[in-house]
Amino acid sequence: MGVPDDVISEICRVALLAPSAMNAQPWRLIAVVREKREEVLKCLQHLGANKFASKASALVVVASDKSGGMMKVGELFKENEFVRNDLGILTAHLVLAAQAAGVGSCILGWRNEEKLREVLGLGKNVVIPEVVALGYPADGYPLREKKRKPQPDVFTLL
Ligand SMILES: Cc1cc2nc3c(=O)[nH]c(=O)nc-3n(C[C@H](O)[C@H](O)[C@H](O)COP(=O)(O)O)c2cc1C
Repeated sequence: MGVPDDVISEICRVALLAPSAMNAQPWRLIAVVREKREEVLKCLQHLGANKFASKASALVVVASDKSGGMMKVGELFKENEFVRNDLGILTAHLVLAAQAAGVGSCILGWRNEEKLREVLGLGKNVVIPEVVALGYPADGYPLREKKRKPQPDVFTLL
């Protein structure tokens, strides 16, 4: 079953509550469900990658316009890379909001960004760090085991 449009919209609404530096909200989400779906898929599947994305209900494009007013302010602090951080936080909110709604997700960083801009009619100033595939997990398909670095290698309590 496909994820209904209203559930996709609600997941995006919750994700867009994410915090951002100076509350600049330097982002835009484009949930590709029907229109341009095949063209967007092609941008994610070059060289045989991300085949599973064909089964996703929505491909949510995470984008930011580098020419926006607040982005200029952000440039003053660019060593902090606020915009990239903001988009990462937005993406994290998106996958967590999806999980809370019973919807599975996969972040797709393997993409042809230039072609995506072209397909979606976005200008050269728009960056698209990732696309998030959303869909209901298949019946009886268990979540794969989490393989993570041992906590002592990446965590210190002082
Ligand atoms: C920025 C980023 C880009 C990613 N790009 C892809 C991708 O293009 N294709 C894919 O299958 N998974 C992609 N992933 C998913 C990671 O491979 C996945 O989160 C990681 O292996 C941990 O998976 P797990 O939580 O199921 O253990 C990406 C994840 C991130 C955070």
